[in-house]
Amino acid sequence: MKARFALLETLSDGKFHSGQALGESLGVTRAAVWKQLRALTGLGLTIHAVRGRGYQLAQPIDLLTAKAINSHLSDRAREHIAQLDILPDVDSTNTYLKMHAVRGAASGTVCLAERQSAGRGRQGRQWVSPFGCNLYLSLLWRFVDGPTTLAGLSLAVGVALARALRTFVPQDIGLKWPNDLVWQGQKLAGILVEIAGESAGPSYAVIGVGINVRMPTAASDNINQPWTDLYRISQKTPSRNALAAAVLEQLVTVLCEFERQGLSVFLDEWRRLDSMAGRDVQIHMHDSVIAGTAKGIDDNGALMLQVGDELRRFASGEVSLRMAQ
Ligand code: BTN
Repeated sequence: MKARFALLETLSDGKFHSGQALGESLGVTRAAVWKQLRALTGLGLTIHAVRGRGYQLAQPIDLLTAKAINSHLSDRAREHIAQLDILPDVDSTNTYLKMHAVRGAASGTVCLAERQSAGRGRQGRQWVSPFGCNLYLSLLWRFVDGPTTLAGLSLAVGVALARALRTFVPQDIGLKWPNDLVWQGQKLAGILVEIAGESAGPSYAVIGVGINVRMPTAASDNINQPWTDLYRISQKTPSRNALAAAVLEQLVTVLCEFERQGLSVFLDEWRRLDSMAGRDVQIHMHDSVIAGTAKGIDDNGALMLQVGDELRRFASGEVSLRMAQ
C-alpha cells in the first residue's frame, strides 16, 4: 500500500512519468511498477500509458496531506486536534475511528480517506465514496456526560458544516432536518454521528462528514436522491485540504460551545438555515409514511410536523424526511 501511494504522489501532478523513472524513485522493478499501476486503476483511477512517454493520470489530483491541512488551521483548532490520520483507502472513516475509540484514541483524533469501500450514510444507506474527488472525514470527540446529553449534537454539527461551506458557496446553503446540507434542494453533504458511552458518562461521538466536491458522473449512478457537488455549483474545484481544514475549524468551535451550552445556542442559526420549514413533506418511518407541513424544530431539535389539527414531533434517528411528491 505504501509503494502504491508513493507512486500516486509522483503521478498526482498529471504529467507523464516513464516506467523506468517511477521504478527508480520507488526502488522497485518496472514489473512491480506495472503491478502497482494496475492496483491504482482498481481504485477507480484512470491512467494513460503512452509508448515512449510513460504513464500519466487522466487528471491531476490534489491529494490530502496533513501538512496542507495543518497549514490552513488556526493555532486554536490545532490545539484540539490530537492526531490526523490520512488513509488512501478504508472501509469507512467512521468505522475506523469507532475501532480506535474503543482502543482509547484521544478526543480530537481525525481520520480522512481518499476513498471509502463501505462508506455509510444514515439509516444503513451507502455513502458513495470514489477515490480522490470528495471529502470523507471523521472526528472523535469525548464528552464527560452520558449519551442522552448528546441528543442535539448532530443538529449542532449541521450548523458547523453550513458555516464551513459558506466560504466555498456563499449563497443558498440550507439544512434539511436532521442534518443534511443542501444547495437549492439538492444534497451537497451528509453527516453521520455515532454515539456510545456509559449512561451516566463519559461518552464519545464519532462525527462523520461527507462532502461532494467533484463527483464523477459514473459514480453518481448509485446515488438515489437529488444531489450536487461544489464543482457543479461554482464551476471550480476547491482545495480539499482547505475544505477539510475549514470543516475541522468549525467543528472544533461548535463542539467546544456545545459542551458548555448544548444545542440552545445553535437553535436560531439552525432555524435560519432550515430549508424545509413551511413545506409539504413526508416522514418515512419503518413501514409507514406520514404527510404534513414541516413546522421547523422544537428546542430539543425534534422536527415538528403539522398533520391536520395535530402538531406531531419526531426525534431524528428513527425517521427520514422527504419532500411531498
Ligand atoms: C448521510 O447523509 O446519510 C450521512 C453521510 C455521512 C457520510 C460520511 S463520509 C465520512 C464518514 N464515514 C462514513 O462511512 N460515513 C461518514
